[in-house]
Amino acid sequence: MHGGIDHDIAVLFVCLGNICRSPMAEGAFRAAARERGLACTVDSAGTASYHLGHQPDPRAIAIAEKHGIDIAGQSARQVERNDFYRFSHIVALDRANLEGLRARAPRDTLARLSMLMDAVDGRRGEPVADPYYGDAEAFEAAWSVIALGVDAWVERLLREGASLRV
Ligand code: 4NP
Repeated sequence: MHGGIDHDIAVLFVCLGNICRSPMAEGAFRAAARERGLACTVDSAGTASYHLGHQPDPRAIAIAEKHGIDIAGQSARQVERNDFYRFSHIVALDRANLEGLRARAPRDTLARLSMLMDAVDGRRGEPVADPYYGDAEAFEAAWSVIALGVDAWVERLLREGASLRV
């Protein structure tokens, strides 16, 4: 702990377009962290630049809303160099996203790169399949996996000694 008001824990979720999976992960993680009292910063970004400035996919907004979480205010952005210094944990949604992050990571980054499901016992390395070309069911499936993953991340961070919100 170095005091001050900044959170020691800052988590960035990363997928390809930053309009489907990582916005859902950001929203679900923020809600889970709030519920458990975990003090942290959270954001999301994409490895690609196709959707810069776009709102999350309407199907992602709808599934989040169904679970009581509003992600409509998010706006897509691409991963940038400074993210590797601002975030303590950068969490990829699938293996290709993780490889993309590794390829960009500056040598002196202190950010820990992992995959979402790495925090879930027995499901380490499991990807969250891209629902973009799928149907509503694909979004439901992605949400279920993401919800499991973000809960496990919140628990892991609390176990690792992240500070509680006061
Ligand atoms: P995401 O889904 O990585 O979960 O945001 C995608 C969104 C857009 C594209 C691919 C995946 N795209 O090819 O435009």
